[in-house]
Formats: sequence, C-alpha cells, structure tokens
Amino acid sequence: MIRVLVLNGPNLNLLGAREPEIYGHTTLAEIDEGLRRRGAELGLAIECLQSNHEGVLIDRLQRRDFDWVIVNAAGLTHTSVSLRDALLAVGRPFVEVHLSDPSRREPFRHVNYLHDIADATIVGRGAAGYVEALEIVASRTAGLAAAPRAADGADEAGTADGADEAGTADAAAAAGPHPDPGAG
Ligand code: DQA
Repeated sequence: MIRVLVLNGPNLNLLGAREPEIYGHTTLAEIDEGLRRRGAELGLAIECLQSNHEGVLIDRLQRRDFDWVIVNAAGLTHTSVSLRDALLAVGRPFVEVHLSDPSRREPFRHVNYLHDIADATIVGRGAAGYVEALEIVASRTAGLAAAPRAADGADEAGTADGADEAGTADAAAAAGPHPDPGAG
C-alpha cells in the first residue's frame, strides 16, 4: 500500500478558529478525518502529523518510511531552508498545499522555499485542497504498490521513483507567481 505522510506546520492546529475568513471553518481534525476516509477509498495509507515545531516535522521526514508527502508548511513555507533541505534529503515526491493563496497576500508570503521542488501545488482551495492533493497522489501512483522498504530507505523499493516518472507539477492547481526563494 502506498504510504502518504500528511504534514501540517505551525498554527494549523488552530484551523476552524484561526482567521476563518482566510482559512475557513473546517478544523484540522476534520481535514485529517476526510483524508483518512478518502485514503481508504483510494487504497492509500494515511498518516497525519501537525507540529508547531520545525524540528519535529524534520525528524518525522527523516524516518523516510513513506512514499509521498502532502505538506502545508504554513509560515515555514516562507522561511525554512531546513524544511526544504529535509524534503530534498528524503527524496520522496510531495504535494504542497495551502488553504489560502499566499501569492495573493502580503509580499513576505510570496517567498516560497518549497514550490520549485514540489511535484504539485494546490493553493486557495481551502480544506478541499487537501483531498485534491490526495487525488493527485492517487493518480500519480495508480498501479503502483509499495514494496517493503529497508529501514535505511533503500530506493530499489521503487514506488517513489515510479511516482516521479508519472508526472510533474504541470498538473498542479498552482495559481499566481511563486518567486524563487530570496528573490528580490
Ligand atoms: C498557509 C499560508 C501561509 O502563508 C500561512 O503562514 C499559514 C497557512 C495556508 O494554508 O494558506 O499558516 O500555509
């Protein structure tokens, strides 16, 4: 079974109560539940983790016991070289999700350290964006089954490699400009 790690960054534990005019009324627990339900239908194993701490997210990634990642890095999107490095280091494809469209918000949100290395990006779709991200994972992994992977994450198990070949960010629902990190 393809294993999908869903990572949510700082302050997303407050969804539902936090600036609902921007982020909506759906709680993170409801988003996670929706992902688990859809994942079961699609035959994908879902694990969800939210943390307000960059290092917790990085430590989880370094376990490398998953095939795909869906990540809303929240504010870390705009600041974290370390999270970018971790995603590159583990070498698993990922879909970047944002409830809002950061490119249409304050200029500091236009800097994005993840976009250029994401396999797909979904912005401005609210909570529905997470399920759309899962649909992308399902379409990219269709026909693949995760073989047991060695603890060190030996790449010959191959699911992520196969997924890599299955498509690029062109299919993403990304909207608006995403300047290179540090640009300007
Ligand atoms: C966010 C957008 C970020 O700019 C912000 O810091 C968040 C949430 C979103 O989902 O729209 O915390 O990632």
